[in-house]
Amino acid sequence: MYPLLVLGYLSLAHAAIVPGRAFDRFITIWLENQDFAKVIADPDFVDLKRYGILHTRFYAATHPSQPNYVAAVGGDYFGLNHDEVVRIPSNVSTLVDLLDTRDISWAGYFEGNPGPGYMASGSVNISKGTAEGNWDYVRKHNHFVSYDSINMNGTRLARLLSFEDFKRDLAAGTVPQFVAMSPDMLNDGHNTTLDYATKWAREFLLPLLSDSAFAERTVIQLTYDEADDYKKPNQIVSLLLGNGVPKNKEGSEDDTFYSHYSTLSTLQNNWELPNLGRFDVGANVYKLVADVTGYRNKDPKDVANVNNSISYKGFLNNQSTMHVPLSAPNIKLIGAGGLPILDAIRYMWQSHSSEKTPYDGTGNGQLFDGDKHYPIYYPQGGDDA
Ligand SMILES: *[C@@H]1O[C@H](CO)[C@@H](O)[C@H](O)[C@H]1NC(C)=O
Ligand SMILES: *[C@@H]1O[C@H](CO)[C@@H](O)[C@H](O)[C@H]1NC(C)=O
Ligand SMILES: *[C@@H]1O[C@H](CO)[C@@H](O)[C@H](O)[C@H]1NC(C)=O
Ligand SMILES: *[C@@H]1O[C@H](CO)[C@@H](O)[C@H](O)[C@H]1NC(C)=O
Ligand SMILES: *[C@@H]1O[C@H](CO)[C@@H](O)[C@H](O)[C@H]1NC(C)=O
Ligand SMILES: *[C@@H]1O[C@H](CO)[C@@H](O)[C@H](O)[C@H]1NC(C)=O
Repeated sequence: MYPLLVLGYLSLAHAAIVPGRAFDRFITIWLENQDFAKVIADPDFVDLKRYGILHTRFYAATHPSQPNYVAAVGGDYFGLNHDEVVRIPSNVSTLVDLLDTRDISWAGYFEGNPGPGYMASGSVNISKGTAEGNWDYVRKHNHFVSYDSINMNGTRLARLLSFEDFKRDLAAGTVPQFVAMSPDMLNDGHNTTLDYATKWAREFLLPLLSDSAFAERTVIQLTYDEADDYKKPNQIVSLLLGNGVPKNKEGSEDDTFYSHYSTLSTLQNNWELPNLGRFDVGANVYKLVADVTGYRNKDPKDVANVNNSISYKGFLNNQSTMHVPLSAPNIKLIGAGGLPILDAIRYMWQSHSSEKTPYDGTGNGQLFDGDKHYPIYYPQGGDDA
């Protein structure tokens, strides 16, 4: 038994890299609450932009912060309209389940996270002193921890790490193939300013952009959770960087319509993964990848309506008039990976296949809001748009 165990640990530390069609590693780094127009005028951002591809039509899902983080790994924000601690039942699957089908390694690195398994709403780093000490790790900026399918599984919980762990993994060459990172409440700009956060981002990112920073083709996304101005369409900056960006694309712009669901769709397309049967299906794939795979992006039909300032109805909405039961996924959709829904989701939800769902596979989901454009529930079926 003993030699087998040792082998197990070795293979974890040196997990084989699963090559993607356009990149082999994706790192998404989230800053807080800034409008597109203001960020693109910031000098540190202007400097970073020279190295990457700027998405000029990227929209967040809603306000406030937390639902956007939740949406990015689960394919919906389930009506969530606040930042308090929530739990999402274990019969809701996430990106982690999709990556598992191909043994693609992943981690979340959250600055100031006291340790894997930390569940509280926030933490104070006493060694920083009282002035800054209240604004470190917050649960609402952790993409994964609200999902019971992650927080009740020790193996998965052990992947929710800190920036100290990132430093160590970078030095050891063991940064996983999918990574989500949130700096603390100062460095992400939440409790500071636009330029405080972009200055942090530039200093953090420059060393990671050299050709030799990662042994495999690595795309690093710098993005924001949501815009600052609730009165305008929720447009944010997303910039793709790293040695996975072809040299001739550096300093370019991509005007395809994207949302946080586009990351899910892009990962599925890149690694030929199954789908979640939610708003991940039909979301546009980053052109960087679509150009390689031949995936056809399209503008959502109601693109003129984009606003996304108020959360729609859902089981996590805390207003009684906006509370509805958890929607069944649409188990009949084919996603950007060219595959049907994850088997485990189909087994779980098969008996609900006659329930209507808001997930129609056209990518229009990203344009729903709680103001004038509620999600429309249809019988389950394929995308016939
Ligand atoms: C707490 O702050 C100190 C000083 O800034 C820093 O060195 C340390 O890494 C921080 N701890 C965590 C868990 O972030
Ligand atoms: C716990 O997570 C591991 C690693 O992701 C996975 O292989 C396993 O199936 C999960 N267990 C359950 C009960 O979901
Ligand atoms: C930090 O942000 C909170 C609101 O999120 C606010 O109450 C507090 O005054 C802010 N502190 C500083 C020092 O900006
Ligand atoms: C977006 O929705 C918010 C909230 O209802 C509203 O205040 C704002 O006027 C809307 N903006 C646009 C451009 O429609
Ligand atoms: C929903 O949660 C927010 C944040 O905690 C709170 O301000 C608001 O009052 C809550 N609304 C209801 C109807 O409970
Ligand atoms: C999913 O879990 C929730 C909460 O436990 C439960 O109410 C719901 O019936 C479950 N749905 C399915 C299909 O298992």
